[in-house]
Amino acid sequence: MDKLLIRGGRRLQGEVTISGAKNAALPDLCATLLSPEPVTLANVPQLKDVATTLKLLANMGVQAEAHADDPSTITLDATRVHNPEAPYELVKTMRASILVLGPLLARFGRARVSLPGGCAIGSRPVDQHIKGLQAMGAQITVEHGYIEAVVPGGADGQPGRLKGARITTDMVTVTGTENLMMAATLAEGETILENAAQEPEIVDLANLLIAMGARIEGQGTHRIRIQGVDRLHGLTPAQAHQIIPDRIETGTFLCAVGAAGGEVTLRRTDADQLEAVIEKLREAGVQIEVGEGWIRVASSGRPKAVGFRTKEHPGFPTDMQAQFMALNAIAEGTAAIHETIFENRFMHVNELIRLGAKIEVDGHSAIVTGVPRLSGATVMATDLRASASLVIAGLVAEGETLVDRIYHLDRGYDRMEAKLRAIGADIERVKEGA
Ligand code: UD1
Repeated sequence: MDKLLIRGGRRLQGEVTISGAKNAALPDLCATLLSPEPVTLANVPQLKDVATTLKLLANMGVQAEAHADDPSTITLDATRVHNPEAPYELVKTMRASILVLGPLLARFGRARVSLPGGCAIGSRPVDQHIKGLQAMGAQITVEHGYIEAVVPGGADGQPGRLKGARITTDMVTVTGTENLMMAATLAEGETILENAAQEPEIVDLANLLIAMGARIEGQGTHRIRIQGVDRLHGLTPAQAHQIIPDRIETGTFLCAVGAAGGEVTLRRTDADQLEAVIEKLREAGVQIEVGEGWIRVASSGRPKAVGFRTKEHPGFPTDMQAQFMALNAIAEGTAAIHETIFENRFMHVNELIRLGAKIEVDGHSAIVTGVPRLSGATVMATDLRASASLVIAGLVAEGETLVDRIYHLDRGYDRMEAKLRAIGADIERVKEGA
């Protein structure tokens, strides 16, 4: 397993180009299943979860080709899907695989998708995805660990077509909203999704679907209306859908500079998508200037500790909680962090404590008392965003920090250590066996 070796204490200086959003790329890739024509996506980030999704789609018969002159542009052709199934081996490594369920049912009237298991940050059920698809007429059973879904009612015993429905999910769910929105594009009649997630990635997916011929309104609000159409068309390379910038990668670099100090300009990003995080960073005393497509961040001295509560968008994203905690760990003062989205998302706390942080966890809250210095140690990444928080702490800590199990980081960050090295961090990848 690869590790990252970081020698802390360097100021960060220069420019970073932000990649396309992981959490937009994954549903966008799955949405290509909805059309019998090739669909081109641009600004696809190069990371493990994208590779896993491509593998998942290839296993069904989807052909994908990265463009020779630009590997972040990919054309996917789902003309011939011979096997509408997501096997356990792939789903267990990436829960977002559940995003194939809606598109497969909508286009083929059947699907077989392994039920995702628990993961490090909580039990993460998919009951709302299933409930919504059942409301649209799907018959769903869980057998031998697989979601077996079929839409009855076709001629000669063939699968039928989903029917529009009014669906209110019990809680706001991001991939749940995405799955149901994709399913509804090809359903018969109108679907109304109440209590829909408002994340920018939902808007990105809706924009892709609309470009493919879907009729959707209200994306970015709590009520999304979809009028089903008979067929979605493809997108040629000239019509390629541009995936939005990754707001979590952006926020991670903002926290890194806030903690380590320095002056960095982030390019190809969008400040409007992370207002809650920028506001908290400003409260912490980090200087942030924003413009069309760029954010400049500057910081010197210790930041001030700032408390927050994670919320659905436009609130403070749970995916930024761990990174902001690393900033608070070296801040002046004490701050309370409340995690309201996931039940067990403080796995990074004990690792930060190994680096000298002072943090107490009480249920869903963590009280962080900033210390003037952290000291390097070997720590273990437990999930994707926890890994990023350990990297940030390592950039600040005195001496060497070795972050183990960085396959978590590789799942969701596009060449993170190369980007950090380019702005002056002393960070290197230690290969397995080296
Ligand atoms: C997505 C993001 C993830 C982010 C999360 C919350 C992707 C690929 N992943 O995950 O990075 O941390 O949103 O912003 O976009 N729930 C249920 N039943 C369901 C669905 C969800 O109980 O059927 C619960 C979950 O356990 C969780 C909460 O609802 O407590 C929100 O989860 P959800 O928004 O669904 O997260 P994901 O879509 O899996």
